[in-house]
Amino acid sequence: MKTLIISGSPRKNGDSMTLVNEMVKYLDGEVQVIHTYDNNISPCVDCRYCWHNKGCSIKDGMQEVYQLLNEVDNVIIASPLYFSELTGQLLSFASRLQLFFVSRSIRKDSEFIQKKKNGVLIISAGGDTRNYERSSRTANIIFRQMNTTSIGSVSTIHTNTIPAKDDIDALVKARELALKLNELHNLS
Ligand SMILES: Cc1cc2nc3c(=O)[nH]c(=O)nc-3n(C[C@H](O)[C@H](O)[C@H](O)COP(=O)(O)O)c2cc1C
Repeated sequence: MKTLIISGSPRKNGDSMTLVNEMVKYLDGEVQVIHTYDNNISPCVDCRYCWHNKGCSIKDGMQEVYQLLNEVDNVIIASPLYFSELTGQLLSFASRLQLFFVSRSIRKDSEFIQKKKNGVLIISAGGDTRNYERSSRTANIIFRQMNTTSIGSVSTIHTNTIPAKDDIDALVKARELALKLNELHNLS
């Protein structure tokens, strides 16, 4: 089993990564992490190269991600809430998935295939925000572009006062979701 983790946090040892690391402890197989804050991936500039050609005109770290998205079994999106949304850096990364939409819906490429995957969303929030509707909706759009079915989400709130490492409920949920991904993979 292979899992790709896409982190939208600038904090490598922050709350979102604490929950990611808890999942990684229990996940079977290989794990690869993309830190959207420090990889070499530019945003989509709507050059429309992909309207008429296979692939993306921007030759950067995203080429590897396009390939990984056809290899991995799971995708985990982890992000702090910034202004009640996924972080801008994560959205900038996600804009490059426009290639998939265009291949399918504009270029109607019959050879375009996207491996089916399972997904988990991890959200961290400093305040007492219990409404993740907006960020969940955005994450689901991203999952859909990746042909990924969300199997659940875990959130940690009040991180301004209680860091994720002390949020026992969230840590337990993270572990349960990792075990569920293992189980789903074993059934497939
Ligand atoms: C620019 C910015 C915007 C934020 N907006 C929100 C917000 O809208 N709601 C909230 O509950 N917390 C907000 N926070 C707090 C973060 O979500 C919180 O600190 C989170 O636990 C950080 O996660 P990380 O350690 O994984 O980066 C914001 C923090 C920053 C820096």
